Amino acid sequence: MLNISHISKTFNPGTADSKLALDDLCLDVDDGEFITIIGANGAGKSTLFGAIAGSFFTDEGRITLDGEDITMMPEYLRARKIGRLFQDPMRGTAPGMTIEENLSLAAGHGGWLSMAGSGQKKEFREMLRQLEMGLEDRMKQPMGLLSGGQRQAVTLLMATINPPSLLLLDEHTAALDPAAADKVLAITEEVVKKDHLTCLMITHNMQSALKLGTRTLMMDAGRIILDVSGSERGSMKVEDLLERFKSISGKALDNDRMLLTSEKDS
Ligand SMILES: Nc1ncnc2c1ncn2[C@@H]1O[C@H](COP(=O)(O)OP(=O)(O)O)[C@@H](O)[C@H]1O
Ligand SMILES: [Mg+2]
Repeated sequence: MLNISHISKTFNPGTADSKLALDDLCLDVDDGEFITIIGANGAGKSTLFGAIAGSFFTDEGRITLDGEDITMMPEYLRARKIGRLFQDPMRGTAPGMTIEENLSLAAGHGGWLSMAGSGQKKEFREMLRQLEMGLEDRMKQPMGLLSGGQRQAVTLLMATINPPSLLLLDEHTAALDPAAADKVLAITEEVVKKDHLTCLMITHNMQSALKLGTRTLMMDAGRIILDVSGSERGSMKVEDLLERFKSISGKALDNDRMLLTSEKDS
């Protein structure tokens, strides 16, 4: 369970570039919830993830995870409980190391293959086979040779090989071509379901936001301005979301093509 209580964050305080990126934000997330997060560029979505993961300390407020106050916990310690994926498939893996070594590193073997037993190598092979990307026969190839979609799929395995308390996905399919994005989203759903993970997923895609998960948040100006779940969400269409955004924020969600098109034709 994640509890975020009244967190605020100002970047470059006291300067001309001062920016209030999180504004007294509160959020409670139950175990096993899969939440999608949408909002215009600059709304504070990635900053929210940074605050949760400990990339910086918030100016105010409190964050607890599984009952433990992590507000002042350094990022590297939070990383033991929090998995995080980014838009850029180059982040999060060691490109010069093989797939097998990357998985071994993620599993906690310090990256040295000699330390991953043959039993575990079999497990890696089976995990890769389930991706249905042919990677089970490429375990000795460097990560750097994989396509963006393949890398994000393996990064997803790495982030969940020891199931985290919380999985943060920050537009992890936005840099992929539509077919690869669909594939990685399908894998995401499976991985989250298999381990009953608690997951927050930022997406630029409104269709994905309504289709995946059980609850959708919309952010604007460092706040959560809409929080829908259950039957209300079930009957919602993209147009309804846009309409709700407009009526609450008093402005139209920026006409970013990515926000309006479906994953298939974006
Ligand atoms: N490290 C930083 N230093 C200064 N300003 C930042 C930093 N990170 C984010 N911001 C600013 O905070 C606001 C929110 O950014 P961000 O959380 O990245 O938005 P989103 O992910 O919703 O597009 C933006 O105005 C952005 O320019
Ligand atoms: Mg962002």
